[in-house]
Formats: sequence, C-alpha cells, structure tokens
Amino acid sequence: MNILVTGGAGYIGSHTCVSLIESGHTVTVMDNLCNSKVETIDKIELITGKKVTFYNIDVTNESEVDRIFSKHDFDAIIHFAGLKSVGESVSKPLDYYYNNLLGTIVVCRVSLKYGVKRFVFSSSATVYGDNESPFVETMKLLPAANPYGETKAMCERILMDMVKANSGYSVTLLRYFNPIGAHESGLIGELPNGIPNNLMPYITQVAKGKLEKLKIFGNDYPTADGTGVRDYIHVMDLAEGHVVAVEKMKDGLQIYNLGTGKGTSVLQLVNVFEEVNGIRVPYEITDRRPGDIAECYADAGKAESELGWKARQTIRDMVRDSWRFEQNL
Ligand code: NAD
Ligand code: UD1
Repeated sequence: MNILVTGGAGYIGSHTCVSLIESGHTVTVMDNLCNSKVETIDKIELITGKKVTFYNIDVTNESEVDRIFSKHDFDAIIHFAGLKSVGESVSKPLDYYYNNLLGTIVVCRVSLKYGVKRFVFSSSATVYGDNESPFVETMKLLPAANPYGETKAMCERILMDMVKANSGYSVTLLRYFNPIGAHESGLIGELPNGIPNNLMPYITQVAKGKLEKLKIFGNDYPTADGTGVRDYIHVMDLAEGHVVAVEKMKDGLQIYNLGTGKGTSVLQLVNVFEEVNGIRVPYEITDRRPGDIAECYADAGKAESELGWKARQTIRDMVRDSWRFEQNL
C-alpha cells in the first residue's frame, strides 16, 4: 500500500515507518518537525535501504495538505501528528486543542475529498481515565485529567461521527499503553525536548549522568511495592501493531488496545534496567504526581483475536534497547 504517515519523524511514527517499509509498503511522511528532527528520516532510510518521501508541512494547513494529496494516490493514512506533553497541555490548552483537533479534522477532510478510505488514529490509554485495570475497549470512557487526554477523546468522537456519515470508510482507533524502547540498530528512538516527563527517558538520562537522580512519584499506591504500575510496550511491537491494523482494516469503526496486558511498577522497571544494563540509577521517593493513577494496563485480547497481533518483546528487551539508543546520542 501507499501510506501517508503524518508525524512520521516522531518517536512512534519513525519506528512504524521502518516496519511498514519492511513489510513492503511505501511511505510518505508529513511532519512539521515541531518535536522531531529531519535527520530521523535519513535514519529510516539507512535502516531500510528505501527512500522516504518527506514533506515539512503542518497538518493544520489545509491547502498544503491538499496539495500533497493531489500529488499522490494514497491507500491509507496513519495519523500520528499531534502534541503529546501532558504538563504543557495544562499550561497551553488552546495550543493542544487547536493543533490536535484541527490537524485531525483537516487530514480527515482532505482524505474524504480524495477518497482515501482507510484512516488509523493514534489514541491513548488515557481515554479510559480512572477506570479499573485491565482496560477493555468496551469500557465507558472517563474524563481525562488534562487537556491532552481530552484532545484524544474528542478526536475519537470526531472520527466515530465521520465514519458513521461516510459509508465505505474504515477508521481504526489504536489506544496505546506506554511505549518505550528503540529500534535495535540504536539509530532511532525517543528524543524528548528538554527534561523528560516520562519515566524511561528520565531513567536513561540519569544512568548517563545527564540528570542527577530519578524521582519516583509516590510509593504509597495500592500496588505490590507501592509504586505506579503501567503497561510498557516495546515501540517496535507497537509499530508492528500499526502494520497489521492498516493491512486488516474493515469497513466502519474498529478500536484496539495496543499493550502487553502486563503491569510493571516503577521500581521493577528501575531494577530490571540496572540488572540488564549493569548500571546504577540513583533515585529518591517523592510525592505523587498530580493526575497519576495507581495502575494502568491493557486487556490486550481483542487485538490478538481479531488482528492476530501480540506484543512479543519483554521488559528486558525494552530497557536494553532504550539504553543502547541513549548511549548512541
Ligand atoms: P512525537 O512528538 O515523537 O511525534 C509526533 C510528531 O508529530 C512529531 O514529529 C511532531 O513534529 C509532529 N507534529 C506535531 N504537530 C504537528 C502538526 N501540526 N503538523 C505536522 N506534524 C506535527 O510523539 P509520539 O510519542 O511519536 O506520539 C505519536 C502519537 O501517538 C501522538 O499523537 C501521541 O499523542 C500519541 N500517543 C503517544 C503516546 C506515547 O507514550 N508516546 C501514548 C499514547 C498516544
Ligand atoms: C503519561 C501521561 C499519558 C500519556 C503518556 C505518554 C500523565 C499523567 N499521563 O503516562 O497521558 O499518554 O505519558 O506520553 O502524565 N514516574 C516517576 N518518575 C518520573 C516519571 C514517571 O516515578 O520521573 C512514574 C509515574 O508516576 C508513572 C510511571 O512512572 O507511575 C509512568 O509515567 P510516564 O512515563 O510519565 O507515563 P504515564 O504517566 O503512564
């Protein structure tokens, strides 16, 4: 297939481009590089040995997006482009609603105009809010604790209405759990701007000595060791999930969790990181982070039974690959 990947220079998008190309698809990337670097496109080409067509375009700019669709004959769109920092979304809510909602609406409008009938959207486990884990696709969604999470829930609703109104269209909402890890080459991985908010890039930067010590946000949660539990998934497993999802699209709306179904606590992740990589990660326990929940992990059964997809890589693989990427920077 000829696939448009918006946000394809970013963390999950770049790994998905590699998997798509390795599965025989052709990719065209549209990214305004607001949270990524153009060199990532060269690295995708280096890993795959294939050319990637790249456009430095803002997906909220409808005439520019239209111009690209008029030059290509896309079979499907995977829409990653969006802002993703939870903390920033609290201080700049309008930027988040503008970018994430308008970007999604523009890409949808243009896809309708050109008759591109397959649309895959990057959603998040955050739409489940404070439901009890494991999260199942059929659960009633609860309000997100921040504007970023609200943009994901709102985009889901926009896409549900779009597909209802246009027969013959296929929309797949992929709800990601916590992607970590990097491509085994160590050439591409997560490149956070400034001090990381998320756990894994924080750990690798402490291990490298860029940051002094990890703050573990609370050890009084009702979990086995008191620290927060998440469903960490290797970014290459997540990338494979996109390949299968886009290849197996059906008419109408589909929703899939992409997670492993297994929870890992902050302390467990730190311990495995130290053991596998033979390096210490100094930490201290601090207060809970506002908005965090105790546990978040997937019921990953639907993606397995309907798509035949299952995450394969272990926490040991994830911490090894994250550390390899950090060392290459
Ligand atoms: P990322 O920031 O690395 O990638 C997003 C890419 O989109 C970046 O390259 C950025 O430059 C681009 N972009 C942003 N706004 C744009 C615009 N208006 N026009 C064109 N390009 C634009 O983030 P990621 O971790 O790869 O996440 C990809 C998608 O998955 C996002 O929609 C994110 O919200 C969603 N998601 C991520 C996670 C996670 O833990 N990383 C979890 C759930 C969902
Ligand atoms: C966060 C977002 C979520 C978003 C996801 C990917 C919040 C509340 N949620 O998920 O909406 O989809 O990132 O961008 O921000 N932790 C520490 N110390 C740190 C960092 C994290 O102890 O320095 C802990 C957290 O309390 C949590 C776990 O590590 O228990 C994972 O945190 P993080 O990587 O930020 O992901 P989420 O909070 O699950």
